[in-house]
Amino acid sequence: MSKKATIITYGCQMNVNESAKMKQMFQNMGYDMTDDIKESDVVFLNTCTIREGAAVKVYGKLGELKTLKEKKNNNLIIGVTGCLAQEVREDFIKKVPYVDLVLGNQNIAKIPDALEKIQSGEIEHIVLVEDEDELPKRVDADFGDDSIASISITYGCNNFCTFCIVPYVRGMERSVPLREIIYDVEQYARKGYKEILFLGQNVNSYGSDRLDMKENFALLLEESVKVEGDFWIKYVSPHPKDFTDDVIDVIAKNPKISRMLHLPLQSGSTKILNAMSRGYTKEEFITLAKKIKEKIPDIGITTDIIVGFPGETDEDFQDTMDVVNEVGFENAFMFMYSKRTGTPAAIMENQVDENVKSERLQQLMRLQNAKAKEESTKYLDKIVKVLVEGPSRKNKEMLSGRTSSHKIVLFKGDKKLIGKFVNVRIEETKTWTLYGKIEE
Ligand code: SAH
Ligand code: SF4
Ligand code: F3S
Repeated sequence: MSKKATIITYGCQMNVNESAKMKQMFQNMGYDMTDDIKESDVVFLNTCTIREGAAVKVYGKLGELKTLKEKKNNNLIIGVTGCLAQEVREDFIKKVPYVDLVLGNQNIAKIPDALEKIQSGEIEHIVLVEDEDELPKRVDADFGDDSIASISITYGCNNFCTFCIVPYVRGMERSVPLREIIYDVEQYARKGYKEILFLGQNVNSYGSDRLDMKENFALLLEESVKVEGDFWIKYVSPHPKDFTDDVIDVIAKNPKISRMLHLPLQSGSTKILNAMSRGYTKEEFITLAKKIKEKIPDIGITTDIIVGFPGETDEDFQDTMDVVNEVGFENAFMFMYSKRTGTPAAIMENQVDENVKSERLQQLMRLQNAKAKEESTKYLDKIVKVLVEGPSRKNKEMLSGRTSSHKIVLFKGDKKLIGKFVNVRIEETKTWTLYGKIEE
């Protein structure tokens, strides 16, 4: 009987991408992948620590794995990768001694080697978490039957927003050479992937560590759309402070570049943005969003917002509400500020009361939902290109897909269309979902 492995992924697209690489590695080692941990010989948790809740979830899962490992008389190897592994390091083994391997994502290429050492009993625990300052070793990824392939264009982050743990666990920003990215775009386009997703903590600062090479995000987009094939390019996330006009122009003239724009606001208050070290003001953000909407009218802007950052007053929060009201985001991920040990904001005075954070979050969500509903109506009667993703979860009769701007569309159609592009005429719009008919 063949050996079985499970990877459970938490966190962002970067982790999803790295899990696809780990999956490919396990398959090369002769493992069958399974989602059922009970029948697994090896379980890896690819973890996140962006907010406290993310870390709590991982420890909860580890508790479950401990019980399973005992039931299996220790015949279960448990590995932890990702940002929580990188944060907790050696202490992981002290906290959860039944974990066998702890690897930062810089080191996932070493999994086969490390696993062999654990299996042979040569070493009891392996911890590989050295600081991340080089480009990780190139590894192939398996995206399965998905029509979406992702490519990390940068690793790490240099921004040190004062609330954020990412630069501490993912290291300094390192850009992948442009020709390597284009090579991947070519191979994925050839394999028939319809969406190619560029990943980075701050994609539009791509190349700033390779200035001598004159590689930047606008050039990368321009080179990517020259690759032959019917696909579109999406990217997450750009940073408002680095959004230059040449990038706007390249997007505007290339329909192959997605109309999704995830532009994290974080706060609408200039005072709080300053304390966050975000590098832009309330007015600059509004001006940028309006300029982009004007130059690319079919763009769908989405965002991330934190409420209750230390020192946020009712007035500051009102500034955030103002921006949400004025810009009109199609979607927003909204969070209560969560303290991350080692970041400057964690020790700032004037931490905001949890009840106040929660009340502000509710208020913000109510406004954003109303705005999302309003934004949605702009699709009414339009014919949009949709990448068909699969049957709708709620209604199996319907197919579900995404527009270039990342909006969900439901429509009737043959299952053979899954993984293909179709044109859909939008007949009804709800807050999160558009409904329509395929145009022949
Ligand atoms: N690099 C991306 C963000 C990665 S983290 C960017 O700059 O856009 C994803 C989101 O998590 C952030 O945009 C932020 O809104 C949220 N986040 C990060 N740290 C947080 C914290 N300590 N508390 C609450 N939300 C946080
Ligand atoms: Fe974190 Fe800021 Fe870097 Fe995004 S840009 S990963 S929020 S430090
Ligand atoms: Fe989480 Fe790390 Fe991504 S902390 S959000 S998995 S970069």
